[in-house]
Amino acid sequence: MNASVSDAVQRVFNFSAGPAVLPLPVLEQIQRDMLALPGVGSSILEISHRSPTFIDIANDAKARITSLLNVPETHEILFLQGGSRLQFSMIPMNLLLEGKPADYVLTGSWGKNAKKEAVKEGKVQVAWDGADCSYNRLPKQSELKLDPNASFVHLTSNETIEGVQFLHEIEAGDVPVVVDCSSDIFCRPLPVERYGLIYACAQKNAGPAGVTMVIIRKDLLQRGDAELPGYLLYRNHAEADSMWNTPPTFAIYVMGLVAKWLQEEIGGLAKMESLNREKSSLLYDVIDNNSDFYVGHADADSRSLMNVTFRLPSADIEKKFFAAAEELNLTNLKGHRSVGGVRASVYNAMPLAGVRALADFMQQFADDNK
Ligand SMILES: Cc1ncc(COP(=O)(O)O)c(C=O)c1O
Repeated sequence: MNASVSDAVQRVFNFSAGPAVLPLPVLEQIQRDMLALPGVGSSILEISHRSPTFIDIANDAKARITSLLNVPETHEILFLQGGSRLQFSMIPMNLLLEGKPADYVLTGSWGKNAKKEAVKEGKVQVAWDGADCSYNRLPKQSELKLDPNASFVHLTSNETIEGVQFLHEIEAGDVPVVVDCSSDIFCRPLPVERYGLIYACAQKNAGPAGVTMVIIRKDLLQRGDAELPGYLLYRNHAEADSMWNTPPTFAIYVMGLVAKWLQEEIGGLAKMESLNREKSSLLYDVIDNNSDFYVGHADADSRSLMNVTFRLPSADIEKKFFAAAEELNLTNLKGHRSVGGVRASVYNAMPLAGVRALADFMQQFADDNK
């Protein structure tokens, strides 16, 4: 696109995997508040995290998230920094118990990355590894080798790179289940009470980069060793209401606006899930109806509502596909550099109109290039 000043505000349909599209009403609200928050006279970027204004903003964000996800009293919401990658270390640092290894379910690249960090902290076992099937499906419950003595079991709810997603819970008995929801938090109602720890960086489905939300069962806060560096101990953040150090104030404010949008404009997470099913099936239908041209990566029963991954007959045709899509302002469709192909990230904030435009384009492109 021509980047002249006159068209600087023209928005495209941005299928980026993250940081990703935000709801337009959220961006408009940020724009309105940017010079001065109403009644404050300064912007969110310029006020103390200890000010009554910010404390209200953080409490409001927390209350909205509690209501959206139905977070029970047994769990605590923390706003942290360092991205989900820091959680890959903090989780085993805080939750591994002596003589009790952790079980990792590997459904794709992010699960593998999480395990790579966990082994630095202690003993880790692999409960299932989808390497043999190129991470194109989820394990059945009966395939999971879960140790009843494990400190915790870790899984990745949505594998952003491969496009496979758990839309159901796994059964792990009394072992706390830890789940990386970085790319699908808020995409559906989640039974929080069934999880020991849920974590999600914001920049895909919940806000801008800079804040990572952790929802932890309160009893697990007692596990971390007090000798850990202070920032790395969940207990410190819980005791200080996520103000143990200066929190990422702007990112928390935006996450609160996204939660408000989900409540007031979408109507909650059940509605969001049905919209997400509608949006992703528009794309999966084109793939299935043109199986001589598009090859989806994930098995039908493991498909992600968030990241639709597929290939075209050749790298050259894929190149042509990206260029033609770009012409129509359908952007950032390239698959992750580690796997190639096409990835359409259709997070909560991607409007139905954007997905319709992509589905129409995909059908036309298949018709013209078969
Ligand atoms: C599922 C998943 N986990 C973890 C990460 C890493 O997040 P961050 O870059 O915030 O550390 C990502 C980022 O792409 C992701 O998609």
